[in-house]
Amino acid sequence: MMDSVLCWADKNRDQFLAGLKKWLSIPSISAQPDHRGDVAAAAEWLRDEARSIGMNAEVVPTAGHPVVLITTPEGLAPKGAPHILIYGHYDVQPPEPLELWESPPFVPTVRDGILYARGAVDDKGQVHCHLSALTAWKQINGGFPCRISMIIEGEEEVGSPNFMSVVNARKDFFKTAKTLIISDTSIYSRDVPTLTYGLRGLVGTEMVLHGANTDLHSGAYGGTVANSGHALCEMVARLHDPQGRVTVPGFYDDVIPLTEKERQMWKQLPYSDEQFAKDLGVTELFGEVGYTTLERKYGRPTLEINGITCGYQGPGNKTVLPNRASCKITCRLVPGQDAEKIMDRLQEYLRRIKPAGVTMEFTYRTKGSPSCLTPLESPAMEAAGEAMKLAFGKMPVFKREGGSIPVPAWFKESLNIDSVLIGFGLPDDRIHAPNEKFELCQYYAGIKACAALYALLAEKLK
Ligand code: BES
Ligand code: MN
Ligand code: MN
Repeated sequence: MMDSVLCWADKNRDQFLAGLKKWLSIPSISAQPDHRGDVAAAAEWLRDEARSIGMNAEVVPTAGHPVVLITTPEGLAPKGAPHILIYGHYDVQPPEPLELWESPPFVPTVRDGILYARGAVDDKGQVHCHLSALTAWKQINGGFPCRISMIIEGEEEVGSPNFMSVVNARKDFFKTAKTLIISDTSIYSRDVPTLTYGLRGLVGTEMVLHGANTDLHSGAYGGTVANSGHALCEMVARLHDPQGRVTVPGFYDDVIPLTEKERQMWKQLPYSDEQFAKDLGVTELFGEVGYTTLERKYGRPTLEINGITCGYQGPGNKTVLPNRASCKITCRLVPGQDAEKIMDRLQEYLRRIKPAGVTMEFTYRTKGSPSCLTPLESPAMEAAGEAMKLAFGKMPVFKREGGSIPVPAWFKESLNIDSVLIGFGLPDDRIHAPNEKFELCQYYAGIKACAALYALLAEKLK
């Protein structure tokens, strides 16, 4: 049965791609209030698409953007088949800067077997792998090997602030799920299929410094009162030591060290610092001493400035002493670290190192995304491994990711359900950047992996 499903999926690639392109053309940018209507339209598109393959589907409103909940109707899965849950997101990051896109971000375009669009791989394209796999199962088999539910949200790119309220309102329903499948990561490289077993967490804030009560002429006032820009730079410069370590006191206190087994496992991955630097166009790499690049990226916490604003940036010269400077800061967290505690310590440290002559405020602090680790050995992981082998020709290796998705940790904590992170993107897909892409061979292999996964899960989880 599975073979004919995979075969049908292969033959109907064009139809799947056409559907995905329609979805990608809706600019569901969750961060931008002007796009509220588009976010809603993308949710409705997904609902209608799911209904067209015979699933139950509803758009569940939240205090923010809606969640789409898709469930298997009675009779479309064998009696007693395991309940499996698929999580993903249909919202996308802002596409700016627009002028760097070779084709417009919301005009999905295929060039040389590669699909370009915002959301192509993060995450509409990967959610669409599951939709397409379900379509193939329904077409060939009249139903699915498992009882499959999908919960696809519209606020992942803004920290999933309302997601758990939907889950908590239907806890009894979600509790019956045996595993949470997430396709929102990438494989290690083109010829190294991978399963991901860990993600870093995230927490962020904005710091604003105020100097005098107005901008000042730098001749009339320079040398008499503090310049907010200088104060900010001084502070930022004190956030790392020369060894690339974060200087916030206690920052590393709760970090669970990497195991020797993990470090060995990652050393087996094909990797070269030189190539990595070359691909990124930098002359040297940066980071905490004592750890390899992969270790720093997968398993060490970091602190980053994401944006700095101060003073005049327009054409020409302006002799001004700016009275306001601000910066956005995020920390990636690893297992053991608590988002609230880290943010408390960071803000306390910033208050302490603030130079005299400026005042400081924090305008917000994000809801933290906890890090997660999933078991390497479980029936669901085995099923995922075999599904990857079927689709990509090789047994996958295990890696972590430096990026963040809060949902797996929340599901573990509140429902004790483990996640399987089975993603199909490539590491150079330019997620969040101009010219985001999803290579069609990855998309099609992803559809295959999903279709196989459902059958393998039915077998292993029964
Ligand atoms: N799909 C990504 C997470 C990801 C990033 C996985 C890199 C693998 C590699 C997700 O959509 C994302 O971008 N998460 C944000 C979280 C945030 C905006 C709250 C992130 O990691 O910055
Ligand atoms: Mn994503
Ligand atoms: Mn993202």
